Amino acid sequence: MTDTRILFEPVEFANLSLKNRIVMAPMTRSFSPGNIPGDDVAAYYRRRAEGDVGLILTEGVSTNEDTATGTPNVPNIVTDAAKAGWRNVVDGVHKAGGKIGIQLWHEGPFRNPENTPHPEIPSWSASGIKMPGKPLWEPMSEAEIETAITEFVDAAVAAKEIGFDAVEFHGAHSYLIDSFFWDQTNLRDDKWGGDWDGRTRFASEIIRRTRAKVGADYPLIIRLSQWKQQDFAAKTAATPQELERWLTPLVEAGIDVFHMSQRRFWEPTYEGSELNDAGWAKKLTGKPAISVGSVGLSGEFIAAYAGEASEPASLDRLVEMMEREEFDLIAVGRALLQDPDWAVKVRDNRNDELQTFTKDALGKLF
Ligand SMILES: Cc1cc2nc3c(=O)[nH]c(=O)nc-3n(C[C@H](O)[C@H](O)[C@H](O)COP(=O)(O)O)c2cc1C
Repeated sequence: MTDTRILFEPVEFANLSLKNRIVMAPMTRSFSPGNIPGDDVAAYYRRRAEGDVGLILTEGVSTNEDTATGTPNVPNIVTDAAKAGWRNVVDGVHKAGGKIGIQLWHEGPFRNPENTPHPEIPSWSASGIKMPGKPLWEPMSEAEIETAITEFVDAAVAAKEIGFDAVEFHGAHSYLIDSFFWDQTNLRDDKWGGDWDGRTRFASEIIRRTRAKVGADYPLIIRLSQWKQQDFAAKTAATPQELERWLTPLVEAGIDVFHMSQRRFWEPTYEGSELNDAGWAKKLTGKPAISVGSVGLSGEFIAAYAGEASEPASLDRLVEMMEREEFDLIAVGRALLQDPDWAVKVRDNRNDELQTFTKDALGKLF
């Protein structure tokens, strides 16, 4: 039986005081009609707080009403009604003794205009590219870039006012921010493209301007992924030196925590080292890092969308990596979607009660 006590040690950093090291991964649920999170959404998050999750990260939340999403029933943090809905969510989690951060999301080139109230508005991205080599839209104009930055900042400020314990910028998985990072989707030759300083400028501006408004003490997280939806094998930064050039401007802009998205947390990033993406982020920047990917489950999440079930799996590898202090927190997605009491069961060694993840969980909010 795995000794999982390290997962349940309290941690304190970046002005976040967490009762344990388990983070609920951000997961889009599409249960917010009118883009407003209702009582059922509040109850869903509260149950995970009651289930001893150290830090809940919300599903991706839209930063505007027109270009940010083409996914149905995704909540935003723009309208008064949506903000009131989030206040209800935050209050519920806090009453249950939990902490909750919001993930701010702009789908960028993965917004399908046909699924939106504004199909006439082209999707935004660094160079109008969804699939490398096939531009679909115009690159974002300078004015659109300014608008997008301002919307992220305004959303972060609103989240702080509402009472969220942290803000996470979604800079992963090929969405808007990531479209600037990756040299296959950012072909710009102005100050928003080119070398690493150019390709990190969009994210850095969001972070810098948010930091100026929320103050030095408010926890800011960024989620990044080497892999892309278009290319699971992609490496945005091909070497540790490149990774350092990617992360350093974000640290200088004021980011506190790196959340490095992998599909399988144990996979090393570069040859010659066992470190994963979060391990490298922590090593290169000295900042706390969150890892993620197939924790406690036999299969990975993209296959789960296609219907693959995943059996409970050993936590030995995770415990070893955390004992070596390679990263600080571990995010758990599907296992917590399937079972709000996953953390309690792991903590109490109730291994025979851990559940198989099935596709049914994707269609339910409980
Ligand atoms: C239903 C579902 C929705 C997701 N939505 C988001 C999202 O909104 N933002 C995000 O960064 N990742 C999202 N992800 C990815 C998860 O945060 C996580 O990285 C992934 O599921 C791997 O963790 P797991 O293997 O523990 O499930 C989603 C995953 C699932 C299964």
